[in-house]
Amino acid sequence: AIVDVDPAAYDAGEHESFMHKEILEQPAAAERVLRGRLDDRFATGHLGGLNLDARELRAIRRVKVLGCGSAYYVGQMGAELLEDLARVPADAEAASEFRYRNPIIEPDTLYVAVSQSGETIDTLLAVQEIRRKGGYVIGLVNVVGSAIAREVDGGIYLHAGPEVAVASTKALTNMFLGFAMLALQLGRVRDLSIADGRRLIAGLEALPRKIEEILATEEQLEAVAERLAEAESLFFVGRVRGFPVAREGAQKFKEISYRHAEAYQTSELKHGPLALINPDVPTVAIVPDDELVERNVAALHEIAARGGPLVVVTHEEVSLEGLPDEGVERIVVPRSERELDPILLTVPLQLLAYHAAKRLGHDIDKPRNLAKSVTVE
Ligand code: G6P
Repeated sequence: AIVDVDPAAYDAGEHESFMHKEILEQPAAAERVLRGRLDDRFATGHLGGLNLDARELRAIRRVKVLGCGSAYYVGQMGAELLEDLARVPADAEAASEFRYRNPIIEPDTLYVAVSQSGETIDTLLAVQEIRRKGGYVIGLVNVVGSAIAREVDGGIYLHAGPEVAVASTKALTNMFLGFAMLALQLGRVRDLSIADGRRLIAGLEALPRKIEEILATEEQLEAVAERLAEAESLFFVGRVRGFPVAREGAQKFKEISYRHAEAYQTSELKHGPLALINPDVPTVAIVPDDELVERNVAALHEIAARGGPLVVVTHEEVSLEGLPDEGVERIVVPRSERELDPILLTVPLQLLAYHAAKRLGHDIDKPRNLAKSVTVE
């Protein structure tokens, strides 16, 4: 396929890095991926590129998501969304592992390959293995006409525009929105009500402005990041839909700041990592105001009791009463529909990683040892 490329897209302009430019482009990119794909009348998604009619969508009994790196972590967010809204069993797996365990390919499973570049060899080979065994694969791909886009049975183009920085930001946000629309459409051929469909559509339409609100808090995030940059090692913790957010946050932080950042389920802290908590090991905790808030806040107290500094990414309504003033930083994200929270919780973590790396003087767009797309095994 011949793709028109605007050379201006490959110029960071007044930005000091592509990553920063791409973080700030997210509200506009998010609008592009949603455009024309939300159907108000039937409160559903309108994803023509799936090449699946209602009967075929209804016949899907399982969803398997495959991707590498950040695409894998957002795939976990997507699987959670699909189970939540469509009540279809769904999970995500690293494409790099999947192919090597002789996976069982089932005809009533929908396979979803997630890739910004559309060229990642591990994801491409997984797609080919599934199709060779007769499985149906759709792509969530950004680059039009890329290898994965050409290989799949259908898909959702992400329309994020060219992404140059190795650390994926706007493409990842649009991947999440792609999953949300897929979950809406799959949900609406099953048990998701019109009222819930409308609630989600309104939530999706409001997201670009909410992302903008987070970007407007950059100064606060920069100050927090500069403190985090001093730590040799840190934890990122979250539960259920907050856990892949923590994984993605840790990934961003380690790949560009070169600090050891480890993601954990908050619920698993007491089964091991609490032993490592001390005043030199900060924890970035994902604490949305959802059904798990009390348990999450209880874990914050456990961490604080051991002198662990905390950065709590949360909603306005969540009470942090009883935690020490010293060493506890609160980062507030706007409320959304609870299913859509993960993406708003992710955006501040991009800026934390960015400003930590900047403080440490690293090459933000081209971190050592990493490539934007890994096209050899
Ligand atoms: C590389 C990059 C990651 C990226 C992954 C998947 O490992 O370093 O940042 O998430 O590839 O890339 P893709 O183009 O398939 O989304």
